[in-house]
Amino acid sequence: MPWIEHDHADVGALVAHVADVFVEASREAIHARGQAWLALAGGRTPLPVYARLAGVGLGGVVSAIPTDERCVPHDHPACNLRALRDAFAADANIVANPLTREDGDVDASLAQARALLAVNPQAFDAVLLGMGADGHFASLFPGAANLAEGMAIDSGIDAIATLPDPLPPEAPFARISLTLPRLLHARAIHLVVTGADKRVVLRNAQHDAASKFPVAALLHAPGPHVHIHWSP
Ligand code: 6PG
Repeated sequence: MPWIEHDHADVGALVAHVADVFVEASREAIHARGQAWLALAGGRTPLPVYARLAGVGLGGVVSAIPTDERCVPHDHPACNLRALRDAFAADANIVANPLTREDGDVDASLAQARALLAVNPQAFDAVLLGMGADGHFASLFPGAANLAEGMAIDSGIDAIATLPDPLPPEAPFARISLTLPRLLHARAIHLVVTGADKRVVLRNAQHDAASKFPVAALLHAPGPHVHIHWSP
């Protein structure tokens, strides 16, 4: 199996474990390469992980980017960058870099994201992903017209602009998303999932590499094992 499963009793235990893993990965990277380079999902579940990272004193610089971003102004409540910066407020050595332009313009943001990734071609020290009930991860949504462009393993494309279809009611915006191959260019990948309904989606994706759920392609892709962290 290309994945490793970690089941946790509750969300608190999941957060504590994943935070420990990211603290260790960051410290190792700082020691070995001078700084850590992380790609971090938005959404609700991982934010307490980021707050813990900022609270321990990592002893060096961490450079982070969102795995995906909503195309909204940076001061908008739905902006993932804003959520990351808030969560990292306690540690000035953790820098969250924008995938989007300040005003959220889609085309200019895509150019900015690609430029940022072009000058940072190194493997991520660790990637943290969430998963939606529709099987999306990052902003690779099942109904998007250009999903295939985001999922193509050999595309050489680091980021896409995409419009989920249907638009998720809680965040009805165009997105910039890292592509599957860019996310796989990592030393470690951690997928954080909570709830019984999402576990059903996960099981389907684990058993069927050709599942309609985009997360199946992540789980069955060549590359590092995906660590799946689940809690009720
Ligand atoms: C985002 C995401 C997205 C998220 C999942 C899970 O910006 O919304 O990066 O892929 O991780 O939708 O979200 P929850 O953690 O809120 O369940």
